[in-house]
Amino acid sequence: MNNRELIDKLNKEKSLLFSEWEQLLGTFNEDDAKYSSQIARTISVDKFGKKIFFRGIVEFTNYCKNDCYYCGIRCSNKNAVRYRLSKEDILICCEEGYKYGYRTFVLQGGEDNHYTDDMMVDIISEIHKRFPDCAITLSIGEKERKSYQKFFDAGATRYLLRHETANEEHYRKLHPEKLSLKHRMNCLKDLKEIGYQTGCGCMVGTPFQEVKHLCEDMMYMSEFKPEMIGIGPFIPHKDTPFRDYPCGSVEMTLFLLSLCRIMLPDVLLPATTALGTARGDGRKLGVLCGANVIMPNLSPIAVRKNYMLYDNKAISGEDAGENLKVLQDHMSDIGYEIVIDRGDYKK
Ligand code: 5AD
Repeated sequence: MNNRELIDKLNKEKSLLFSEWEQLLGTFNEDDAKYSSQIARTISVDKFGKKIFFRGIVEFTNYCKNDCYYCGIRCSNKNAVRYRLSKEDILICCEEGYKYGYRTFVLQGGEDNHYTDDMMVDIISEIHKRFPDCAITLSIGEKERKSYQKFFDAGATRYLLRHETANEEHYRKLHPEKLSLKHRMNCLKDLKEIGYQTGCGCMVGTPFQEVKHLCEDMMYMSEFKPEMIGIGPFIPHKDTPFRDYPCGSVEMTLFLLSLCRIMLPDVLLPATTALGTARGDGRKLGVLCGANVIMPNLSPIAVRKNYMLYDNKAISGEDAGENLKVLQDHMSDIGYEIVIDRGDYKK
């Protein structure tokens, strides 16, 4: 089969064999990318219209106990200026966002044990109480199943936890000994079983990544069937062991986004900040490849520069309202609009 036929097969059967993934990801050209983006866009326009959901990310702590080799907030980065937001700070961010139409709040942070389960439950319950029409998404890493359950019971209904890479050996090269892919995938399984709309995902072009690893990512996602997928290019951070490695490929990222849309037509698929950082028009291109979510920053402007997962992260100095105007303009450039909606997963 040629690559177009493989893309058609994926569209029809929603899965490919490993050898087919290897061919497709290993040999695709510009025409193949164009072909898949057209199919992906047709699917997303058919499912969602030319409408983009927006989620406000509140980066509430950049303390992290982990030491992932790629990440700018890894615990051994002594140059990172650390901060934590209080419950009140977080609520102010939500309040501000709500005024402008945000209906999903994503609480994201490093793995920071300062925030006990009880504190998280308190924060989640309060947001849930004050903004009952909003969805609460968590992105706070690997936890015990019983903690995930408590957060769910308190009102969080979505969880983002990228698997980062589905290949064991590759996982080892990106993370210190004490982190394991098995544990991470177990967390993902727990989250889904509890009832969260669950997001996994990977970086493109991390050091030591081979095409076969990305094939494993695609196969893992076709089996796990996440409700959300986060994919962005790797971007080096100057204070990490991976400082001298190159950025991941924008073309490969866009191709994978379109293939994700084709494989999982209902999936909530953000055009990520990393994609927008690697290329100025990256997020627009992402939308044109089937992405239907954008996640602007709702963190207090003063701390944004400290949540640096990678160099040159596209941080806007704008408040929640300004942020949205810019986003609206970018989307209308390509004939899309942003909508005020929780944007839950719908089968
Ligand atoms: N480049 C791109 N993405 C990164 N992330 C962390 N560090 C980097 C980097 N250097 C991503 C990881 C993580 C998400 C919050 O940010 O995939 O899951």
